[in-house]
Amino acid sequence: MFHDVYGHLPYFTLPEYVDIQQMFAPAFHKASTDDQKENIKRLAWFSTEFGLINENGTRKIFGTGLISSKGEMEHVLAGNTPIEPYKVETIVNFDKAIWSYNKTLFEFDSLAELKKELARYFDAL
Ligand SMILES: [Fe+2]
Repeated sequence: MFHDVYGHLPYFTLPEYVDIQQMFAPAFHKASTDDQKENIKRLAWFSTEFGLINENGTRKIFGTGLISSKGEMEHVLAGNTPIEPYKVETIVNFDKAIWSYNKTLFEFDSLAELKKELARYFDAL
């Protein structure tokens, strides 16, 4: 409940966030292989759930999974999690960590950049 009300819900006031959320389901239905479907889940996991955003050189928590996990959020902000650029080709090699902290997380510079990167993969499905 906290996750959805204090995590996702406020973001839905941002049209760019809504656009991004609306990209996942059609892409999932368009995917023709199990690997593509898993990749789409990973792209969602490492963006809207556990993504980081770098605004003007300042790293900020973005994903709702991080927002609702005090322990992992502090772990990440203390510099204990490697952070890589949000690139599809990298992300598809990382498993989602559901019962532990994620071993690596990914960062984008803006919602526009995130949307562009997702579209690059989704449009090619
Ligand atoms: Fe969520």
